[in-house]
Amino acid sequence: MKVLAFGASSSEQSINKALASYTASLIEGASVTVLDLNDFAMPIFSENREKEFGIPEEAQSFIDEIADADLIVVSFAEHNGSYSAAYKNTFDWASRLVKKVYQNKSVIVLSTSPGPGGAQNVLNLALNNLPFFDANVLGSLSVPSFYEVMKEGEILDASVKQSLLDLIAKA
Ligand SMILES: Cc1cc2nc3c(=O)[nH]c(=O)nc-3n(C[C@H](O)[C@H](O)[C@H](O)COP(=O)(O)O)c2cc1C
Repeated sequence: MKVLAFGASSSEQSINKALASYTASLIEGASVTVLDLNDFAMPIFSENREKEFGIPEEAQSFIDEIADADLIVVSFAEHNGSYSAAYKNTFDWASRLVKKVYQNKSVIVLSTSPGPGGAQNVLNLALNNLPFFDANVLGSLSVPSFYEVMKEGEILDASVKQSLLDLIAKA
């Protein structure tokens, strides 16, 4: 099974990227690609820019990465209750090529934050939003207090780890 994991964040130290890649690594026998949204940096989307300069090739690359995967593990960073600008911009450009960006792929939807909220607002947003873009959502988990739950690349909280194992068992 080909698994694409990414954090919906452009932070180089993204805790969401860490959570997504860790979760993907739990899937036995999977071939995992960890994607970094910084590799898909594009100018801020505008219809005028699109008309004048066209769609950046990074948008096609993002679509191709999704097309190539059997399963997507995405973890959403919450910025002011919503998506990070990096994710929204990548998504907006990609949607100009293929409107149904998730291309009927199975998707595990995660979120985490350093605080007790676990980025639940953006997780709810994503759970409402992704099915409109042909994501087949298998399940979701919000992980609060990231730095207490995950240390040195390992999930220390047994119930969080079990919840992640339960999620990947659906894949
Ligand atoms: C501009 C900005 C807005 C933020 N807004 C929220 C928020 O609404 N809720 C939240 O739980 N954390 C918020 N945070 C803190 C993020 O959860 C924290 O930076 C986290 O590390 C982001 O995930 P990442 O490391 O994967 O980028 C915000 C951070 C920034 C920089």
